[in-house]
Amino acid sequence: MTIGYGSTTLLSKTADSEWASALAPSHVRGLDAYQPGKPVEELERELGITGALKVASNENPLGPSPRAAAAITAALPSLHLYPDAGGFALRRALATKWNCELDELVLGAGSNELLYQLVLATCEPTDEVVSHKFGFLSYRLSAQVAGRPFVAAPATAALSCDVDALIAAFTPRTKLVVVGTPNNPTGSVISKAQLQRIIDALPARALLVVDEAYAEYADAWPEIDHASGVDAMRTDPRVLVLRTFSKIYGLAGLRVGYAIANRAVAELLGRVTRTFNVGTLAQVGAIAALEDTAHIAASAALARQGIEQLRAADFGAAKVLPSLGNFALIDCGRPSTDFYNQLLRKGVIVRPMAAWGLPNHLRVSVAARADMPRVIETLASVLA
Ligand SMILES: Cc1ncc(COP(=O)(O)O)c(C=O)c1O
Repeated sequence: MTIGYGSTTLLSKTADSEWASALAPSHVRGLDAYQPGKPVEELERELGITGALKVASNENPLGPSPRAAAAITAALPSLHLYPDAGGFALRRALATKWNCELDELVLGAGSNELLYQLVLATCEPTDEVVSHKFGFLSYRLSAQVAGRPFVAAPATAALSCDVDALIAAFTPRTKLVVVGTPNNPTGSVISKAQLQRIIDALPARALLVVDEAYAEYADAWPEIDHASGVDAMRTDPRVLVLRTFSKIYGLAGLRVGYAIANRAVAELLGRVTRTFNVGTLAQVGAIAALEDTAHIAASAALARQGIEQLRAADFGAAKVLPSLGNFALIDCGRPSTDFYNQLLRKGVIVRPMAAWGLPNHLRVSVAARADMPRVIETLASVLA
């Protein structure tokens, strides 16, 4: 077939995708793009309804920190200027919060960006990224996008990190080990002793990434033993912690997160981060949000209450897994697609988990207090 591009020569859709596929290196050819939760506007357009409720992306139902919103408004007149590429004021605020040095902090356009950059900063083509089977999808994607092998260790029967299996998956090629605590989508945490076992078994040339996107929510459950990646990082330079402003601070739309790491590791990561990756509004919003302790406390309490409500609800044979995040996984006992579609028709958007290797599961984020009865009643009507 002759392929020509111009105003009069158009390729058929199949030929188009064959041609584009040939452009891609082999590791990109097999990739599926990340599927985020369905937007409210999309569902409302499709069904011709209003008032749809999205509980699919673990967003903060209390909205952004009001202090952040005010700081962002105040910064609007300076938008013609490039942001501070070094993010000095935000790093200084974070250094105060964590009692660490400025050069132990790296900013990113969300913690997701830092994860992708970490693979680029550390992995040779044959180096492996290791996590467990039901970790956050980005752990796998960040390796695959860079063409690095990803190793998924088996999880426990309760879907949480099986520390023995994780350690058994370490090889001399292991370069990054990534664990989330609380983990998305399972809500499970890693105990202090488990984290120490992983660190003790870490191959000498490997870095342990502890993803603490939801850690502030776990702190609302002081009676449950959960590890602190930041404490571990202070005693072992091979531990790097990822944190984000997208969750408890309610700033997912701003795209700002950070890594706390040994200064040599932070310097390495800094070499591959894009210049001006964190915008001015993200920087000023994040600084103000850090100070908004009332918003943080209210958000953590709301999440715990929502999880307790979900766990206490009667969903028939469906089971809500324990979670220390602002979301819970529901085991429907059979493929969840029908349940997902029925919920959509009732205007409630949850997250189907088939793409995460969990075809029987749905993930539900905690909603605002006033919306929780609707979430629970709709789930019960569909599941029970
Ligand atoms: C476990 C976990 N880590 C990291 C992220 C990335 O967050 P962001 O890139 O918005 O900081 C998410 C987002 O959902 C997450 O669930």
